[in-house]
Parts: sequence; C-alpha cells; structure tokens
Amino acid sequence: MGSKLKYALIGCGGCGVGKHLASYALCPDEIELYGVYDVDPARAEAAARKHGVAHVFATYQALLADPAVDIVSVVTPNALHAPISIAALQAGKHVHVEKPIAMNAAEARAIVAAKNAAGRWCMVALNNRFTEQAQFAKRFVDEGQLGEIYHARCGWRRRRGIPGLGGWFTTKSLSGGGPVIDLGVHYFDLTLYLMGYPAPTTVSAMAYQKFGPLPDPAQGRPGMDVEDLAAGFARLAGGASVAFEFSWASNIQQETIYLELLGTRAGLSLVNGELRIFTEVGGQVADLIPQVRNAGAWGNSETRHFIDCVRTGREPLAKPEEAVKMMQIIDAIYASSQAGREIDISAA
Ligand SMILES: NC(=O)c1ccc[n+]([C@@H]2O[C@H](COP(=O)([O-])OP(=O)(O)OC[C@H]3O[C@@H](n4cnc5c(N)ncnc54)[C@H](O)[C@@H]3O)[C@@H](O)[C@H]2O)c1
Repeated sequence: MGSKLKYALIGCGGCGVGKHLASYALCPDEIELYGVYDVDPARAEAAARKHGVAHVFATYQALLADPAVDIVSVVTPNALHAPISIAALQAGKHVHVEKPIAMNAAEARAIVAAKNAAGRWCMVALNNRFTEQAQFAKRFVDEGQLGEIYHARCGWRRRRGIPGLGGWFTTKSLSGGGPVIDLGVHYFDLTLYLMGYPAPTTVSAMAYQKFGPLPDPAQGRPGMDVEDLAAGFARLAGGASVAFEFSWASNIQQETIYLELLGTRAGLSLVNGELRIFTEVGGQVADLIPQVRNAGAWGNSETRHFIDCVRTGREPLAKPEEAVKMMQIIDAIYASSQAGREIDISAA
C-alpha cells in the first residue's frame, strides 16, 4: 500500500458520483482517485472526467483484478451489492457498500463471511449515522442518560416520492423492495444503532401498494412491483419494541423523517433534522435542544471515517454484522405482510 490509498468506484450514478466520488475527492492527501466502472461506459467516462480519475475500466472484474486498488465503493442497483462486494473482498479490497447492504439477510451473511475470510473491512454507507446529531445522540444514549429505552418509533413517510417509475428502484428483482429497503434501512438502522443493536425477535407488518401501477409489458407501460408503504411493529431481545412506518407515497400533510426513543429517564427525538431531549429539570418536564449542527446526511465524515479505519485497522462503525439484523427485519416485514401474521425470527 503506497502513501495514498487508491480508490475506485463501481456504479457511477447519482449516489456513486454525487456522494462517493465527491466525498473521496475531498480527501486528496489520503486518496488517489484511481478508477471507475459503470455498465454504461458514458457514465463512467463522465464521472472520470468530472473528478480527474485516471482509469476507466471495461468490466468490474478487470477493476477488481488490478492489484493497485485498495478501496472500492459499490454503488450499483441493490441486486448487485452482494455479488460485487463479495468479489471485491475476495480480491483483497476494502469495500464501502451502499445501503441496503444486500437484497436479504442470506446475502448479507455471505458478505460478512467474505469479509471475515478476506481480513478486509466492509462498511455499509449508512450516512445518517455520521451526522453530528446522530453521533451526539449515540454518546448521550451510551452515557445512560435516557435510562432504559423500552420503546422506539421510527419512520420516513413521503407524501409523493416514488423514485423513477419503471426504473430499478421500483423493480423488486433489482431493488429487493420499496420504501422499506430504500428509506427504512436508514432510519430503522439509526434507531437500532442508538439502542445498541439488540437482536430482533418478532416482526408484524403490512405492506401496501396503492399508488404505483403494476407494470404492463404487453402495453409497454412501466410500473412498480414493490410496496409504496409498510408499517408494523418489531420486538427486540431484552424486551424493547419499535413501531415503524415507511412510505414513498401516502396522503399525509408532508414528508416526515423521524425517530423517537422512549427511555425511563428521558426521551430523545430526531424529526426532520431537529434533535430534542425530553426530560425533567427542577421538578418540571423540560425540552432540551442540544446545540449540534445539522450538517445534512451527505457530508464526508462517513468517508473520512472509513479511510481512517482502513489506515489504522480500527473497525468501521457501520458493521455488516448489524446490517444482517436489519435485513432479517426487512425479510420478516415482507414475510409477515404476505402471511398475514407475526413472524418469529428469534432463532434466525
Ligand atoms: N445513502 C443514500 O442516501 C443513498 C441515496 C441514493 C442512493 N443510494 C444507494 O446507492 C445505490 C445506487 O443508487 P443511485 O441513486 O445512484 O442509482 P442510479 O440509478 O442513479 O445509479 C446506479 C448506477 O449503477 C449502474 N449500474 C447498473 N448496473 C451495473 C453493473 N452491472 N455494474 C456497474 N454499474 C451498474 C447504472 O448504470 C447507474 O449508473 C443504491 O443501492 C441506492 O440504494 C443511497
């Protein structure tokens, strides 16, 4: 490994270029932007031109076969996360994979196995954990300031926001699902992270598709075969519970992104970027507003953290082992909705 780590991007779409390449480009002392690959060569060329990347590869296998590459971001449609991440780990690369880690828990476990066999790091790109507010909340919770957290609520509810009808986001075989796997992995993950990631034991949920039309290939009409809303309830090891709701479209006043942690000593909420603590001061209930910056979710502290982990050997804080638990919940949300009953995943 030279003095600079050589970085490569696989998947040069909105998130690949706008988040990954842009944020690695902000670390020129530690990172050389070495290579890009996209199945659409024009996108790879454009990304390379925009950021001065040296090599445009013809296949991702060729990129992974280049021994110079140290770190790879995998920012493709979800169905390719597991196969490409596993191939990258097997080729000895450190992997920064976008959320969701994979299509389901079985694939996520295969990534964990590949990571352990390779002795390389794999970090899931859960940018919402890396905001100053989330890190403040984590320290606050870990200090025991909330007492016992016995219940949480989380959600990301859009009024109108189905991504690209007919594209990969709305096609189950490429995405794995709708808002649950797209938005749920962010805020359900953040909730569980703050709670210390207890193992899920049961899930009861319903998923609905009331907005997007089903695809009609005979008419050449694009559509969607994933849910546009899912809501439910999960029990966690140790006795706590989480109520959740995620939607791309619903008839509500406005988009809301929220989590609430209910503890025996205090509560904490993060709603549309506003952090609040609900406690008692001088015998009165009181709301506290911690003065931490809301830096937005696509800052580059996530990337800086991963570079530091690769350099120092420190374990990244968005672990694929935790993503396995998240994917167990997501699998169970779909299974519960289909079966019309609660699903027990305590032995999964
Ligand atoms: N963390 C976040 O806030 C955030 C936001 C948006 C997207 N994402 C995630 O990023 C990933 C990509 O989403 P996006 O919005 O950039 O989608 P996108 O459609 O804009 O980009 C996907 C890119 O992958 C390319 N691609 C398709 N098949 C490929 C293959 N076989 N090999 C290489 N490249 C291939 C496409 O040509 C396209 O350029 C998804 O997993 C998504 O969930 C995360």
